[in-house]
Amino acid sequence: MDLVEKDLKYIWHPCSQMKDYEELKPIIIERGEGVYLYGKDGKAYLDIVSSWWCNLLGHRNPTINAALIDQLGRLEHVIFANFSHEPAIALCEALMNIIPDGLSKFNFSDNGSAAVECALKMSFQYQYQTGHKEKTKFMCLTDGYHGETLGALAVGSMDLYAKMYRPMLMDTHQIEAPDCYRCPFGKKRDSCGCECFAYAEKAFADHGAETCAMIVEPLVQGSAGMRIYPPLYLKKLRALCDRYGVLLIADEIATGFGRTGKMFAFDHAGVSPDILCVSKGLTGGYLPMAITITTDKIYSAFYAEYSEGKAFMHSHTYSGNPLGCSAALAVQQVLREERILEKAAIRAGYLTERLNATLLDHPNVGEIRHIGLIHAIELVTDKQAKTGFEPGLRIGYQIYKKALEKGLILRPLGNVLYFNPPLTITEAELDEAIAICAEAIAEVLGS
Ligand SMILES: Cc1ncc(COP(=O)(O)O)c(C=O)c1O
Repeated sequence: MDLVEKDLKYIWHPCSQMKDYEELKPIIIERGEGVYLYGKDGKAYLDIVSSWWCNLLGHRNPTINAALIDQLGRLEHVIFANFSHEPAIALCEALMNIIPDGLSKFNFSDNGSAAVECALKMSFQYQYQTGHKEKTKFMCLTDGYHGETLGALAVGSMDLYAKMYRPMLMDTHQIEAPDCYRCPFGKKRDSCGCECFAYAEKAFADHGAETCAMIVEPLVQGSAGMRIYPPLYLKKLRALCDRYGVLLIADEIATGFGRTGKMFAFDHAGVSPDILCVSKGLTGGYLPMAITITTDKIYSAFYAEYSEGKAFMHSHTYSGNPLGCSAALAVQQVLREERILEKAAIRAGYLTERLNATLLDHPNVGEIRHIGLIHAIELVTDKQAKTGFEPGLRIGYQIYKKALEKGLILRPLGNVLYFNPPLTITEAELDEAIAICAEAIAEVLGS
C-alpha cells in the first residue's frame, strides 16, 4: 500500500467531503522551504494561502527553527497553573510593545476557537461579577467566522459551518455585516460614511441592554470570502459598545501580526478592543497556540478571595506551552529585526498593481479587493449585476484543481480566490502565483 492509500485508509481530513478525494488524492508533503512546499515526488507547490493563513514568515524559517531546537534542549512542557517559564514571560513582554493600548493580561490556549471560547466566557463572567447579570447575550456580524467549537459557531453565522448544528447553539443577535462590494446604500468602501452602521445602532437599541459582548473579525471577514470593510466601522462600534456597556472582542486570529499591513487590524481604526484573540501567525504557523488578551479592568473583576468563587476556572492542558512560546518569541524577533511589515507593504503595492493589470478586465472578475498582502478575486457571471456563480458549480474548486496541477495552492472560499501569502514572499514568487492563477481561471472560464 502506498502512502496515499494508507492516508485514505486512516485519515478523515478537515473541512472536506472525503468523496472528493477519490478524484483529487491527498498530496503527501515531504518538506517546506520559504513559500514552497515539496511533495514526495519532488513537485513544488507555492503556498499562497499560508497553509490556512498561519504561515507568517515562510516554511522552515531559520530563526524559528533555531529557537525551537534551543528550547527543546531545555523544556518541552510544564503545567501552567502555579508554574511558569521564561519564554512565556518574555513573549508577553514582547507582545506588550505591539498590541493595542490598554491590553495587558494574557490567557493562553492552543487554537483559535479555544481563544474565542475563552473570550466569550470571560465577558459573560465579567458582566455577571460586575453587577450585570442581565447581560447574557452575544452580538456578532452576519457572515462572521470565529471557529468550529459550539460557542464559536454560535457567534459565527456562516450556514456552511453552523447550520447543521443550530439546535445545539446558543441564541445570538446577528447584525447585518458591511458588504462593500454589493453595498445596499450604493456607497464605495474607501469613501463611505459606514451608512450600514445603522444596522448595528438598531440592534444595540433593541438588545444592547441584555448583551455582554460583541465579537468581530476586524476589517476582513476572512471565511466569508475576504470581505473587506473600512476602519471607520470599528471606530463607531467602539463608541457604541461603550454607550451600552457591551465588551468589544476583536478576533484577530486571521488578521493579526501584519496581515492587513499594520500589526493588528484594529490599529487602522486607532481604537482598542476590550479583548483580543490571537493565534495562527502568533507562532508563525509552527505550533498550535492562541492567546486571549484583556485589560486590567476585566482581570480585576476576577481577582478576589478564593472563597468568593470569582476565579476564571478555564484551562487547557497545553496552555502556555514553552515550545509555542519560543516559536512566537522568534516570530517577534524576525518581524522586528527584519522589518518585515515595511517590506511587505512594498510587495503588497506590487501585488495590487500586477493582479489588477492581469485580471481586472477578465469578464468574470467582479472585484479585486485588498488590504495588506491579502488580495481577493471575486468571480461573477455578470460584472454589472455582480451575480455570483451557482455554488453547485464549484467554480472556485475547479480553478483550485487546475492551479494545483500547475503548482499553486489556491484554495478558494466559494466564488472567491485569494492570495494571503507569507509576508516574506518575493516579487518573483508573486509573479509566478499571478501567472498560474490567470492560467487556471482561463482554463475554467475562458480568457
Ligand atoms: C477569524 C478566525 N477566528 C477563529 C478561527 C478559528 O481558529 P482555529 O482554526 O485555530 O480554531 C479562524 C480560523 O480560520 C479564523 O479565521
